[in-house]
Amino acid sequence: MYSEKVMEHFNNPRNVGIIKEPTVLVQVGEPSCGDSLLLSLKIEDERITDVKYKIYGCGAAIATASIASEMVMGLTLDDVLNITDRTIADALDGLPPEKMHCSNMAAGALHGAIREYRKALAAEQQASAG
Ligand code: FES
Repeated sequence: MYSEKVMEHFNNPRNVGIIKEPTVLVQVGEPSCGDSLLLSLKIEDERITDVKYKIYGCGAAIATASIASEMVMGLTLDDVLNITDRTIADALDGLPPEKMHCSNMAAGALHGAIREYRKALAAEQQASAG
């Protein structure tokens, strides 16, 4: 039921771990099945320079996190915001329909992380502007 690409990422997930001093760290979970994703990013000059994650979940959840980590490495934050659940599923040659929603946590986590990062940056700039 899984594509070859899903199986390949499931068997060899890329970029697993947690960055030691991340710029931003977020956790998202899918309550319906209990899968969860802890995502850490290093951001420099509006660009993702490193990404690592820990995933607790099924094969599809592992594969979506793995391929998303490869896709965003080196991208600008605005480009990452253009990545959707569909982009990630397409990069894996599709996901089983029943997994489409629940396993696909990476885009939401990435967007949430960027929002958080930008909010913190704006607060910092405001504070230093006095
Ligand atoms: Fe893995 Fe729902 S069981 S995504």
